[in-house]
Amino acid sequence: MNKWSRFFYTPSLPLYGKERITAGSSHAETALSAAEEGLVLLKNNGGILPLDASRPLALFGKAASEYIKGGGGSGDVHCPYVHGLADGLKLNNVKLFEPLLEFYSGELKKQYDEKKAPGMTTEPKVPSHLADEARSFADTAVIVLNRYSGEGWDRSDFDLTEGEIGLIDEVTSRFDRVIAVINSGGVIGLGRIKDDAKIQGVLHMWQGGMEGGLAAARALLGLVNPSGKLADTHARTIDDYPSTAGFGKSEDYVEYTEGIYVGYRHFETSENARNAVVYPFGYGLSYTTFTVECTDSHEDDKMVAFTVKVTNTGSVSGKEAVGLYFKAPEGKLDKPARVLVDFDKTALLEPGKSQELRLYADKYLMSSYDEKGAVAEAAYVLEPGDYEFYLGSNVETAGLLPYRMHISEPRITSQLSHKGGPKESSDMNESVIGKLTAEESDGLTPWVRAVAPRICWAKRDVKTLMDVYEKKCTLDEFVAQLTDDQLVDLTGGQPLTGVSNVWGFGNLPEYGIPNVQCADGPAGIRINPETGVATTAFPCSTMLCCTWNRSLARAVGFAAGEELKENNLGVWLAPAINIHRNPLCGRNFEYYSEDPVLAGKMAAELVKGVQNNHVGTSVKHFACNNKEVNRKNSDSRVSERALREIYLKAFEIVVKEAKPYTVMSSYNVINGTRASENKDLITGILRDEWGFEGFVMSDWWNMAEQYKEILAGNDLKMACGFPDRVKKAMELGALTREDIEKCVKRILNVILLLD
Ligand code: BGC
Repeated sequence: MNKWSRFFYTPSLPLYGKERITAGSSHAETALSAAEEGLVLLKNNGGILPLDASRPLALFGKAASEYIKGGGGSGDVHCPYVHGLADGLKLNNVKLFEPLLEFYSGELKKQYDEKKAPGMTTEPKVPSHLADEARSFADTAVIVLNRYSGEGWDRSDFDLTEGEIGLIDEVTSRFDRVIAVINSGGVIGLGRIKDDAKIQGVLHMWQGGMEGGLAAARALLGLVNPSGKLADTHARTIDDYPSTAGFGKSEDYVEYTEGIYVGYRHFETSENARNAVVYPFGYGLSYTTFTVECTDSHEDDKMVAFTVKVTNTGSVSGKEAVGLYFKAPEGKLDKPARVLVDFDKTALLEPGKSQELRLYADKYLMSSYDEKGAVAEAAYVLEPGDYEFYLGSNVETAGLLPYRMHISEPRITSQLSHKGGPKESSDMNESVIGKLTAEESDGLTPWVRAVAPRICWAKRDVKTLMDVYEKKCTLDEFVAQLTDDQLVDLTGGQPLTGVSNVWGFGNLPEYGIPNVQCADGPAGIRINPETGVATTAFPCSTMLCCTWNRSLARAVGFAAGEELKENNLGVWLAPAINIHRNPLCGRNFEYYSEDPVLAGKMAAELVKGVQNNHVGTSVKHFACNNKEVNRKNSDSRVSERALREIYLKAFEIVVKEAKPYTVMSSYNVINGTRASENKDLITGILRDEWGFEGFVMSDWWNMAEQYKEILAGNDLKMACGFPDRVKKAMELGALTREDIEKCVKRILNVILLLD
């Protein structure tokens, strides 16, 4: 197919050969593999797992009949079928106690009729006689618990509910063999379940997409050996996370008082905090055992490289993930006790087999950002002393390596300048054209431009974008021929075409610019069900991250890119890589981890996978979108150091490693400036420091003023632009044609990359 034909004509043609690949069996297999590797086995006392498929089971809990494949809002995916845990077990010929499942389905139906959403239902009390009958049918019980969250609201369901605790008591009083399965996209309080000796097995199945239940069943039956590792610390209570205290304090702002002490950086740094950990970052069991030894280490100016030998010492095949952590010496800047600097995972190792992995401690990644000039102001620095390294996936038990990196003099690894930090407050809604109201900006579709009629076979004396692609003219020459109105129009979202439901960009057909449509993610290509097109629902991002498997992330990205392309869409609004600052954030299931290196490196692979199809990604939400309530106006007040070391770091890694075509700025405010109007972050850091070459789009219907976005370097306003306001700003001298040209060129440069 010719370049851009898919965008111009939106043909319903398979990507390859005769069959469509979208939601086909090969992508279902990719979804299944990702779900299998993201499962985290948390407890396996007495080797209760794996189960024998010939032994009947009793599944308890409404979640047994209400599998949650992913979260809600723009992260939801319409897929052809969904395999929950019960289906997965039945597909493997396990006999289940059906009357229980029927009981739960009936109870759930009543709740749905009362307008309760799936996952937001309450745990019904199981009748005693049914529990007794279940015990006569099976000697093993599986308790399934679920959680659901979505865009625009935050969670308040960290603790087990009374209904869930009652259920656990009912089941453990009857059964000697009990396993708990957790179907949640985020962290919940598992202390009670961990401590309960009557629950011998615990599997975190996350929200595993359309094959999630099959994956969990296969792990419970030992058809696959769990190898996922937690991407977040599971603490006992929600108050154990330092970010909880201020999380819901105000709808207008959030003070990031814990600074860089997010997740395990907090829990590992003080004895008290460590006591609150139920399952540490990186934790995850296997049906086999491994030894992990460092066989070689060498250092150069940029990094310390470690060769690590992983051996399967158990009796079944398995994969092992390994993390490399470091501890910086005490100095003028305070430092967390552990920081992850690299990780890798073996292939499937048969018993007795070994594999060598190479892990790198990049000195730049090991540096601390010195905000106030204790060592060197606004610079990344390595303070003098010995740097220790620890090896092992689980941050708590990772073992100290003999090799130490010695720094004799303070070293600046990157001299930067102050950007994006806290500042004197001013009115963020100030605008030369008068303040924008929510009514004026919310939920508008892009305008449809009227194009003057012309005879379509007349020879047109214009340069087309294809002329730029074919090097018949330069992009500057191409843009120079456009009127101000046309330029302004290109900086706003464009009408829907084909199966898209989140609008497009470009769209100046008389100059050969296609209208490139976007699709939401990140768990799959989101297309409205009414189009009749179903796509593959992959595991939620947190689960994908728990695989610690870069090539799997790349494979999921590649498959998603194929589906994007086959459906004539050009940019996937994924990955979403905001840090899991607090478990209550309603969109954590869409995000990767509490750790920026794990999140950044996994997401970078996903981006590479997608873009290998010559379609784009939009890495979102840049930045500090760590809470959903009042997300369009909430001010994330964060220190420069935490910004750089925690909240921007994952974006930095993705930009440097994977060159995403686009980045999406977030709704929220950062230290008093709206993210999309934040020149420090978008131009200063993203472009000038990290070398980002793509374009930046706003999040949909944000509350920002478009001319200020253009000045900041936010090139495209979605879902629609405000041409009249932009032109008014030009008239008033607040914006020049050159300012707009810069944005347009960046948008067109991305279109030139698309196929
Ligand atoms: C979300 C984005 C999403 C966009 C388009 C917004 O509400 O925050 O993540 O990509 O909508 O659906």
